[in-house]
Amino acid sequence: MGKEAARLELAGNASDYKVMSGTVGPDVIDIRKLYGNTGAFTFDPGFTSTASCESKITYIDGDEGVLLHRGYPIDQLAEQSSFMEVAYLLLNGELPNKPTLETFTRTISRHTMLHEQLATFYRGFRRDAHPMAIMCGVVGALSAFYHDSTDINDPHQRMVASHRLIAKMPTIAAMAYKYSVGQPFIYPDNNLSYTGNFLRMTFGVPAEPYVVDPVVEDAMDKIFILHADHEQNASTSTVRLAGSSGANPFACIAAGIACLWGPAHGGANEAALNMLREIGTVDRIPEYIARAKDKNDPFRLMGFGHRVYKNYDPRAKVMQKTANEVLERLGVKDPIFDVARELEQIALNDPYFVEKKLYPNVDFYSGVILSAIGFPTTMFTVLFALARTVGWVAQWNEMISDPEQKIGRPRQLYTGATHRDYVAVEKR
Ligand code: SDX
Repeated sequence: MGKEAARLELAGNASDYKVMSGTVGPDVIDIRKLYGNTGAFTFDPGFTSTASCESKITYIDGDEGVLLHRGYPIDQLAEQSSFMEVAYLLLNGELPNKPTLETFTRTISRHTMLHEQLATFYRGFRRDAHPMAIMCGVVGALSAFYHDSTDINDPHQRMVASHRLIAKMPTIAAMAYKYSVGQPFIYPDNNLSYTGNFLRMTFGVPAEPYVVDPVVEDAMDKIFILHADHEQNASTSTVRLAGSSGANPFACIAAGIACLWGPAHGGANEAALNMLREIGTVDRIPEYIARAKDKNDPFRLMGFGHRVYKNYDPRAKVMQKTANEVLERLGVKDPIFDVARELEQIALNDPYFVEKKLYPNVDFYSGVILSAIGFPTTMFTVLFALARTVGWVAQWNEMISDPEQKIGRPRQLYTGATHRDYVAVEKR
């Protein structure tokens, strides 16, 4: 038996709306006919009550702190799989068997090089450019170099573009870093793993061989898995909206990168570490907690709170454990980690944070690990973008393949001036 319809009464007229159920999670009310039936729109800035699409990729239960990719819990994926496996899973819906994973990994590694002319592009940026600024520019520019994979109506071209984006992001990101420190670009080495190759391109120099540290490689791979996808977050919604007009995939991912950069979203990892450094010592934490609670102070605890999670972000748990392991195994003693742990404890026991259900999110601990590995803070969001490219591409593909796909075009509640006649400038 189908669900009972939702009935809405407006100015004495009732209309019914289909209630749709997913495989799990809240039902949704299909209001596509609302405007036609009533002449009214819904009002939901920030989309707090709006499902923008149907998706089979990622499921989040924010109250329980659950995150599943294609049904698989994030902690199992982070502990037991690899980033390449998760990439395949997100793109194709199933975990690959061994030969399929090998073929996929080989395909991705064959696309790691960048068109040589793109290297000259970097030189147009100032040396002190933020690497996210470089990412926005260079990823957008890919559409000028790979014309043979910009036809979004051709499934083969879509697949090639997806592989190219996933494969080239580490190269682009490492080159952004190299450019900022004035070192020569390092070409990819396809004998290394996806993550090992990225580390070598970032930290290697032509003057000596680079040996990938397996501890760092493992931690980095986990970090990539933890950032790979997260349902309809702001940057993914941006990619979908950009893609809904038929824009090419490289342009869409560049749009996602721009959205991710903001401190309320992916930029929070950089902001969180800067905040921890500013706090500096455990005794100064109460001062910052007080500021975070003060409505008149714009300061917020970065890496804390989430639109969907009203419980511990399951990724933050894995991240905290990984931070512990990395710091211990690399022998790094960073007082910032003590500040982070103490700040977390104080906040989790403070009535303000308890009542608002504010918990650490994915960005709270990632900076501690990335800093221990040797990345400057400005690279943190770049690493998020690198990993999230997989999710963006999977979601973009899902959208383009959806027969109900339409250009995204919200409406508004207009509160500006009504009709008035133009007055010549000398008469104003
Ligand atoms: C990511 O959406 C995703 O899935 C994103 C992401 C992904 O993988 O794609 O998970 C990645 O973006 C993680 C979030 C990173 N951002 C931060 O860490 C920045 C700090 N946090 C926030 O500014 C905030 O919590 C957001 C942006 C994450 C969520 O914003 P919402 O859902 O719009 O919630 P809100 O700002 O309206 O907060 C509700 C209340 C407010 O108080 P009241 O007005 O109700 O009194 O909680 C307060 C806020 O002031 N609050 C905080 C706080 N976060 C929320 N107070 C102090 N410190 C904080 N961090």
